[in-house]
Amino acid sequence: SNRKMLVLGGDGIGPEVVKEVLRVVDWMAKKRSVSFDLQEGLVGGAAYDKHGTPLTDETLADAVDSDAVLFGAVGGTQYDDLPFEVKPERGLLRLRKEMDLFANLRPAMVFDAMADASSLKRDLVSGLDIMILRELTGGVYFGQPRGIDDLPDGTKKGYDTQVYTTPEIERIGRVAFDLARKRDGRVTSVEKANVMMSGVLWREVMTNLHKAEGEGVVLDHMYADNCAMQLVRNPKQFDVIVTDNLFGDILSDCAAMLTGSLGMLPSASLGAVDEVTGKRHALYEPVHGSAPDIAGKGIANPIAEMLSFAMALRYSFDMGEEADMLEQAIQNVLKSGLRTADIMQDGMARVSTTVMTDSLLKE
Ligand code: NAI
Ligand code: MG
Repeated sequence: SNRKMLVLGGDGIGPEVVKEVLRVVDWMAKKRSVSFDLQEGLVGGAAYDKHGTPLTDETLADAVDSDAVLFGAVGGTQYDDLPFEVKPERGLLRLRKEMDLFANLRPAMVFDAMADASSLKRDLVSGLDIMILRELTGGVYFGQPRGIDDLPDGTKKGYDTQVYTTPEIERIGRVAFDLARKRDGRVTSVEKANVMMSGVLWREVMTNLHKAEGEGVVLDHMYADNCAMQLVRNPKQFDVIVTDNLFGDILSDCAAMLTGSLGMLPSASLGAVDEVTGKRHALYEPVHGSAPDIAGKGIANPIAEMLSFAMALRYSFDMGEEADMLEQAIQNVLKSGLRTADIMQDGMARVSTTVMTDSLLKE
């Protein structure tokens, strides 16, 4: 088949939840005659243990060559003392950089059956469906110069540089407008133009891009600190929020907690459109990490990885119908009262990772 998917389970519960998605892939081949060209590889600590590096050049080449990478999670306490360059996280960062995955999509949605799991009032979050779009390859996490320098008086200074160029802002803006057109048609662009020059440019470029290419989309602007407050005060006011790397890191974690369940949050990272093939590099992964505290116990919640796969179906394989089907099955299973330990509520039935998937397949 021409649906090339590279599967990188990684460490801890990563391989456990990825395995459950592969059961869905099997089901699709058997019941829907939809097949994928699957390849599996190692990343993170698992790759370090075998090859001495968290990402081999071969695996990177496979990733670049695939239509989508399905990623689990990396990291573990046994790797905490490794040198910086071979830490498990470096494998993921290198993938993001080399695949030029500049657009990080983090939906925050609340399934009806889960509205009580949020720490916020039920009516504030029930039916919530917002998308945080974070610029992922630029900004203060990469800008030069950066470092820690010794000063003549014996003290030190640590510094980073926030940099954004016009093309970097335009390409993330285009993704925001595209997404909004498939949703409620609203984009909120978030920066701090009141105190940062990169923010002044960000706002100016977004405004111009909207005039030129923003048909059918309503654009407004918000300062990042206000956005943090509004996300907690009235999250349903938003549709798509587009912002830089640093603010996006923080705001997406904030939005994640509106839903109250880390084990249910998917994400996608998209790259530029290849001018020859017309395809985008893409990597799909849950928001959660490798959860060493529960690894190997068979109790991890597979839903975040399932929803990440649903995003792959929608954005990389043009299989929106199958994506809807998978999401609906998840909705139904939750409605029927099944819960993994992390999302357990009163009166619900506690199930293992595999039983959760059994029920999903039945639905
Ligand atoms: P974590 O997300 O792995 O775990 C936080 C808490 O949530 C833990 O109590 C864990 O048991 C629970 N949890 C997370 N996912 C779950 C799931 N699917 N089902 C049930 N419970 C779940 O974050 P933490 O503990 O800060 O980091 C653990 C390791 O993961 C570290 O090595 C960290 O560097 C790495 N990490 C990797 C990420 C990635 O690969 N993208 C992202 C975040 C952390
Ligand atoms: Mg974060």
